Amino acid sequence: MALKWTRRGILKILGLMGATSFTLGAYNYMKAESKILLPEPSKDGEMSVERAIAGRRSVRRFESAFISLNQLSQLLWAAQGITDSRGFRGAPSAGALYPLELFILAGKVEGLKEGVYHYDAEGCSLELRREGDLRLEMASASTLNQMWIKDAPIILVICAIYERTVSKYGLRGERYVHMEAGHVGENIYLQAESLGLACTVVGAFLDDEVRRILDVSEETAPLYLIPIGMPS
Ligand SMILES: Cc1cc2nc3c(=O)[nH]c(=O)nc-3n(C[C@H](O)[C@H](O)[C@H](O)COP(=O)(O)O)c2cc1C
Repeated sequence: MALKWTRRGILKILGLMGATSFTLGAYNYMKAESKILLPEPSKDGEMSVERAIAGRRSVRRFESAFISLNQLSQLLWAAQGITDSRGFRGAPSAGALYPLELFILAGKVEGLKEGVYHYDAEGCSLELRREGDLRLEMASASTLNQMWIKDAPIILVICAIYERTVSKYGLRGERYVHMEAGHVGENIYLQAESLGLACTVVGAFLDDEVRRILDVSEETAPLYLIPIGMPS
């Protein structure tokens, strides 16, 4: 992919130069020494998009089974994967500025140790941020006593860096960022359905608690928690 002379382009160059960790505001997610390359996602599933739309339902009870790394890779690709040589992604983004960042709390994923990971869409990889099973803590960060969240094998967290979009579109950019989270959330619902998995988007949680668990700074705003697993 062509590298552009933008903030993200500069970050990419720094990454290619082998930086193990660098800080530029909220964008310090890179810990190159702990990168896990994800399996290649499939571009051809068994379920039609119509069946996935018709079958999708929010599910809050999960089997205790593990999900596979292939399934996790597929879900992340559907959410934010790059699908075009120009860098465009599966979900639309105002001005192609891509303000969303995905984090994964992995509890039960085959071949992946428990921890908090950041999804690097450009590198098709995961970056380990914290070790340990933090699903119970994340469930406790929800409001309305939604402890069922802890039973999902993974909890995906959609976060936003508003700056990326607001810097071009002003305050209206905030609206665009929320619209984008909706697009990504629906892609995740449909991909989960087609994999025989299920999820629920959760908007009721304490932002600061979620930030603390993810170990991200104030500029990174959590928008959705999405527990995902095999429906029971
Ligand atoms: C913005 C938003 C926030 C939501 N927050 C929660 C939540 O905190 N907890 C929850 O159990 N479901 C949450 N939901 C899921 C809705 O409850 C669910 O979509 C609705 O009941 C319709 O069911 P369906 O998704 O199966 O069609 C949320 C949905 C949206 C769009």
